[in-house]
Amino acid sequence: MSLKGKKIVLGLTGSIAAYKAADLTRRLVKAGAEVQPVMTPAAARFIPPLTIATLAGREVLSELFPDAGDAQTAWTKHVDLGLWADAVVIAPATAQTLAKLAGGFCDSMLTAVVLSARCPVLVAPAMDHDMWGHPATQRNVARLHADGVEVVDPAHGELASGLVGDGRLPEPEDLVATIERWMQGSGFGVQGSAPSDDVPVGAPRSPVPGPLQGRHVLVTAGPTREAIDPVRFLSNGSTGTMGFALAAAAARRGARVTLVAGPVALDTPPGVDRVDVVTADDLLDAALAHADADLVIAAAAVSDYAPAQVSDHKLAKGDGDLTLTLRRTPDVLATLGERKRDGQTLVGFALETHGGEAKARAKLDRKRLDWIALNVQGEPGAGMGAPTNRVTLLGADGARVEIATAPKAEVAQAILDAVTG
Ligand code: CTP
Repeated sequence: MSLKGKKIVLGLTGSIAAYKAADLTRRLVKAGAEVQPVMTPAAARFIPPLTIATLAGREVLSELFPDAGDAQTAWTKHVDLGLWADAVVIAPATAQTLAKLAGGFCDSMLTAVVLSARCPVLVAPAMDHDMWGHPATQRNVARLHADGVEVVDPAHGELASGLVGDGRLPEPEDLVATIERWMQGSGFGVQGSAPSDDVPVGAPRSPVPGPLQGRHVLVTAGPTREAIDPVRFLSNGSTGTMGFALAAAAARRGARVTLVAGPVALDTPPGVDRVDVVTADDLLDAALAHADADLVIAAAAVSDYAPAQVSDHKLAKGDGDLTLTLRRTPDVLATLGERKRDGQTLVGFALETHGGEAKARAKLDRKRLDWIALNVQGEPGAGMGAPTNRVTLLGADGARVEIATAPKAEVAQAILDAVTG
């Protein structure tokens, strides 16, 4: 009952994902929240207001100017609700609603409530992959982020269109957990603290306004592959999810982002410049080309060794064992540490199986880092290959920040908060 007594305006907009809103409503109520549903007219085409009203135990509001009833009462309802709510949650939030909110439009009860709200606002976008990736949508999301709105990254998977990509509304269970964490978070209650520069209208990759506007962020992500012969290689199980989430979060905050990625099956986050690499040597070259970045986050799981000899033909099996001689690969982050310039922030990751904190601190010193993010491999819900992560951030100044288990997109936001704060 961690939402006990919390007053939540739950906004529903016209996405196929609105079908999940029934379960979301039920779960919020079960967690102890008072839920006031507000639906856009388009949402009502996907899910009957009666279903939502029954689950919430409250009448669904939709029209800003209802035909019937006391006109005076109806007219001020959006203001009343904006004052009543502890939080406004819009899930699913369509591209259209994001655009309206980013532009400050108030042509429906929901958009008018958001403009009147004195409480924090969270949006969970849901749409087709290409709509989510469109520069206009990303510009609107960045605008909302800069206005202090919490944006929950859509999940990756199969979409109603049949395409596979980013754009799914997270499962209601995960959304409730996200809302709980958000409402318990330290920043809760602060809205609209970010600068309000004009939104640039520009090319798809032009930086968007936000707290990291004008800063260059370099992120390394994914595994490397070190060839043994033309068909075999040494590698590891990194999926690149954490690094890609960091790149996406930095771009959304307005940074110019260069993402140096090993071989992974992930789409390039909107607004990010991606450089694909295969080996540790390639990764070093690509990183050095951007070594003047203001913030470097090394999330790549770089192979520490590579076969000393690469066979130019496929090795056929023999009768006995095969011995490979391995050579050390360059340590990309340590090289960047040696060349670190004034004002640059270097962040590394340490994936440990045991003795974590002491080893991570030793790496922090050895590689001249400002921060190191410690993951414990083998811990449930954390580390390589997991969709979630739990991180202990250690600072060169002795700081220690615990980031609780959460989807990697949220962990990325928390890491950026700490290292840019
Ligand atoms: N890293 C790197 N280049 C390498 C190895 C690691 O840039 N060749 C970076 C990783 O991206 C990560 C950090 O260094 O940010 C720590 O990686 P890790 O492999 O855990 O550290 P090592 O120094 O290699 O320590 P060890 O393997 O002894 O645990």
